[in-house]
Amino acid sequence: MQGDILAMKSFGSDNHSGIHPAILGAIAAVNTAHAVAYGDDPATQRAVGLLKEMFGEMADVYFVFNGTGANVLALKTLTRSYEAAVCAATAHIWTDECGAPERQVGCKLLPVAAPDGKLTPELVLPRLQGFGFPHHSQPRVISISQPTELGTLYTVDEIRALADLAHKYGMYLHVDGARFGNAVAALDVSPREMIVDTGVDALSFGGTKNGLMLGEAVLFLDPMLSGNAMYERKQAMQLASKMRFVSAQFEAYLTDGLWLKLATHSNALARRLAEGVSQIEGVELTQPTQVNGVFALLPREAIERLLRDYSVYVWDETRDEVRWMTSFDTTAAEVDEFLAAIHQALG
Ligand SMILES: Cc1ncc(COP(=O)(O)O)c(C=O)c1O
Repeated sequence: MQGDILAMKSFGSDNHSGIHPAILGAIAAVNTAHAVAYGDDPATQRAVGLLKEMFGEMADVYFVFNGTGANVLALKTLTRSYEAAVCAATAHIWTDECGAPERQVGCKLLPVAAPDGKLTPELVLPRLQGFGFPHHSQPRVISISQPTELGTLYTVDEIRALADLAHKYGMYLHVDGARFGNAVAALDVSPREMIVDTGVDALSFGGTKNGLMLGEAVLFLDPMLSGNAMYERKQAMQLASKMRFVSAQFEAYLTDGLWLKLATHSNALARRLAEGVSQIEGVELTQPTQVNGVFALLPREAIERLLRDYSVYVWDETRDEVRWMTSFDTTAAEVDEFLAAIHQALG
């Protein structure tokens, strides 16, 4: 099945889905004339304007191609090579970016075990040592994922506590929001409340996993922090020359709340899936389903059977844990079919 065009809908990841028609339409709509390159075009200005409306005029916005690039740009702008970022051991920057932060940024990552994917001040504090000691990397950033890679969420107060801790130590708080829409939709708070009012310094704002063809934005909430970002983006090869095709996607994504409608939909279908599997004997949910990912343990033979027809991501092979994800275009009927397939696979 690997590499095939999937005959069935995939519950393997939210980036197995295609492009939302409104996003594809927006790409076509800006494909009409010439426009100045590298972001000096009207579509980029409009998309930046929409993000500033959401996060405030102070927000400094940089569009990039992908989530790894967004995280690298945020970390590269906030740290120097002798500094370090504290993150959860489940963080994408630690587990799934092939060492891009270490290689491209040069900083050290300090992973912390967090069973639900969430850092707390108590978990972070032991890593905040060696300040001013030339033999130790200097902690400069706390990086959290919202939602986490385990589909869990930080409350607004939990984010504020981490921002306060970071600032107390002269550090910054970075949020990897590859699925930021799912977090905002689930918590029903505004982006401003979640990010600006809590004191977050930089946000990787994802689009690809929620209906874009490709594209993410990095926001620095204080322009004093982002003086080097335009150079870092270019050096990191994340500066699109035909930027309008990335920005136009964001413009459509942020218009009329499309980003939240899509995320609300995928969250609801993950809940439907979680509720369905909680009724099936032989499946054990391992995390609360707060956004669009469902984590479960089931026997290896059942996983193998499911894999014949579905793309399913085996999250942790050592304990036969899978991650099922819903997308903006998953339907209730597909979830129900999948539930029947899980039933059968266990049969
Ligand atoms: C939490 C998180 N951050 C960042 C990324 C990076 O995205 P990309 O694959 O576009 O580099 C992902 C992708 O899975 C992710 O789940």
